[in-house]
Amino acid sequence: MSVTLLDGRALSREINQAVKRQVATLSRPPGLGVILVGEDPASQVYVGRKQRVAEALGLLHVQRTLPADITQEALLAELDALQGRDDIDGVLVQLPLPDHLDADAVALRLDPAKDVDGLSPVNAGLLALGRPAMVPCTPAGVMRMLERGGVPLSGKRAVVVGRSNIVGRPIAHLLEQANATVTVCHSRTADLAEEVGRADVIIAAVGSPELVRGAWIRPGAAVIDVGVNRLEDGSLVGDVEFAAAAERAAVLTPVPGGVGPMTIALLMENTLRCALARGAAEGR
Ligand code: GUN
Repeated sequence: MSVTLLDGRALSREINQAVKRQVATLSRPPGLGVILVGEDPASQVYVGRKQRVAEALGLLHVQRTLPADITQEALLAELDALQGRDDIDGVLVQLPLPDHLDADAVALRLDPAKDVDGLSPVNAGLLALGRPAMVPCTPAGVMRMLERGGVPLSGKRAVVVGRSNIVGRPIAHLLEQANATVTVCHSRTADLAEEVGRADVIIAAVGSPELVRGAWIRPGAAVIDVGVNRLEDGSLVGDVEFAAAAERAAVLTPVPGGVGPMTIALLMENTLRCALARGAAEGR
């Protein structure tokens, strides 16, 4: 069986171009506000990429870089100031935060109308209820890739490895809403190999290098690898043992060049959606 690799770079380019075309018709640019706390090198890279894409598409991009030892109160005050601006339509606080800061309290403080990460309890709750919501960017990007890959979901067994609020849990809701039968696996799952082995669709989102072994995968399954793990030798690998998975899967995403660029494209799309909902009018 030959595997089809889903090219996240190509699909994200299409989405970005569509956003750029629509942005050019608006009465004002959609505004994206980004808060980065500390100097985590990976977060700096991600935030830099978001800025480059936002500016290339004609969005207003405003970044606040805050010291790693900032207090919770000062961080919330910065968030309030950024999301209080009329020219800012979407805000995100780059995760992970330094250990002394409370990411749940940040999520609670997000203005749901500007929550382009879909992390506020309002958006998370709406999504869980199957109501229209801001959907976190990575899960939204994963669904777009499955759609583009022609991967059937209705009636299929889907296994999500990882239960984070930003990836695993929202993806599980989206797959269930697409009528898949969904199992969420995590660090206490008794037999991960067995669960994965039953799945028609596997979403790996734990952040553990090559945790999902190729030999576990059912021949013909679709495998979406959300993990981005840097090894000591500097190389990047996903949460899936790629070469072995490619021997069995029908559809597979590479790392890098798979889900990563989709996350950024969906962030741009979410920012555009927030701007339109906040009255950025078409007809420039
Ligand atoms: N860190 C890694 N991915 C993401 C993301 O999609 N949003 C935020 N806020 N932080 C992240």
